[in-house]
Amino acid sequence: MTNREPQIVVIGTGYVGLTTAACLAHLGHDVVGVDVDEAKVWALRRGEVPIVEAGLVGMVSRGLESGRLRFETSYEHAAGDVVLLCLPTPTTAAGDLDLSYIESAARQLRDVLEPGAIVVTKSTVPVGTHRDLLRWLDRPDLAVASNPEFLREGTAVHDFCHPDRVVIGAADVGVAERVAGLYRSLSAPILITDLASAELVKVAANTFLAAKLSFVNEMSRVCEATGGDIDEVIAGIASDHRIGTAFMRPGPGWGGSCFPKDTRGMAALGRQHGLELPMVTATIASNDAHMDHIDLSIRTSLGRPLADATVAVWGATFKAGTDDCRDSPALAIVRRLAAAGARIRLFDPVARPSVAGVEHCGDAYDACDNADLLVIATEWPEFGEADMNKVARLLAAPTVFDTRGILDPAAVAAAGLILHRPGHGASWAGVSNRDAVGTGSGGPR
Ligand code: UDX
Repeated sequence: MTNREPQIVVIGTGYVGLTTAACLAHLGHDVVGVDVDEAKVWALRRGEVPIVEAGLVGMVSRGLESGRLRFETSYEHAAGDVVLLCLPTPTTAAGDLDLSYIESAARQLRDVLEPGAIVVTKSTVPVGTHRDLLRWLDRPDLAVASNPEFLREGTAVHDFCHPDRVVIGAADVGVAERVAGLYRSLSAPILITDLASAELVKVAANTFLAAKLSFVNEMSRVCEATGGDIDEVIAGIASDHRIGTAFMRPGPGWGGSCFPKDTRGMAALGRQHGLELPMVTATIASNDAHMDHIDLSIRTSLGRPLADATVAVWGATFKAGTDDCRDSPALAIVRRLAAAGARIRLFDPVARPSVAGVEHCGDAYDACDNADLLVIATEWPEFGEADMNKVARLLAAPTVFDTRGILDPAAVAAAGLILHRPGHGASWAGVSNRDAVGTGSGGPR
């Protein structure tokens, strides 16, 4: 290899690949993003970003203007020194990860890469994938590495530029150091490991985070049953520095494109190796139980058969800040209520998923028009700032179910609305129902 700056190729321009390509160009590297979707590549060349991701449009346009970032559809342009695979690895019906996109990319790279190039997996892959990758590449003059990403959707650009750590797995320290060179201008610690450990880190980290949330959601159910207040309980346990405050918000259950897939992937790994992994299986079962509990709690708060009811729902994406509805707990709520016969008036600031029986509304207030219940299903900040007096005037019945705990209980009570929130015992509303009813300026219709 010469001393020139390495040419970086990113295969796949989804939220991980596009963020990675644009941010590496921002760090001063020469980057080519390759995607087989021609329409997407043409749009990206014009600076059009097909996903909602804070700061990404600016990163892409600056990369294009500087000439350090370009997009191609053909593997002819993939002959880089370091090739990062950012391809989908969907879950199969059996719970394993489907590696066919990785395999197909590796077989095409085999024909174009120069000797000494490094092929790096960034996508979530099962431990041991590096051996398959070497087999598919079938070129002893190429090296492989694992560099898992930890980007959260919605804050992916920020996470790329300010990582807690960069993990690089390789069989040879020279290879690891060449990959580490991509991140040399970041101040993050770089952890160099063997290949199997690096492949495990991503799935282990996500399984741990999911377990944390399953635990918090279980505690919210304990609070409801015993009269405790989940906010007080979390404040009490999170102030122990060994536990910490991050990732402790109760909600409607965890979802998204990573946690369900990665927890199932870890459970499948246990089965393949004949290992009992009761923490992992309980983490998944606990989340399923929590989603059932939220569904039942919503029905109870409605107080009438769903088949006779109109329910306003705010939020469809799996969390705020993204347009992604994959494995969205918000959408699970919508689907369950609609399947039970409720008319759903849905508003989400960015997503309009198609679900039978669901009417998409122009704004959050429009969704409330004559509805018997308002459910807040995604924590978009604008929902927390909504005028609750206006909501109270629009709703046909004075009940709000805030699955994310983002509304101000005092403002809801002042509007004369009854508030239900996970993790709040007794009346399990932030204020008692008696206090809430009749104190509002507008009052329910
Ligand atoms: C996650 C990991 O955080 C990230 O490191 C990895 O690369 C991809 O998977 P993401 O799927 O974008 O990122 O979402 P994240 O913000 O982690 O949230 C996951 C789920 O947990 C969402 O359903 C979210 O609503 C829920 N959540 C998160 C809570 O219910 N409470 C919290 O306190 C935090």
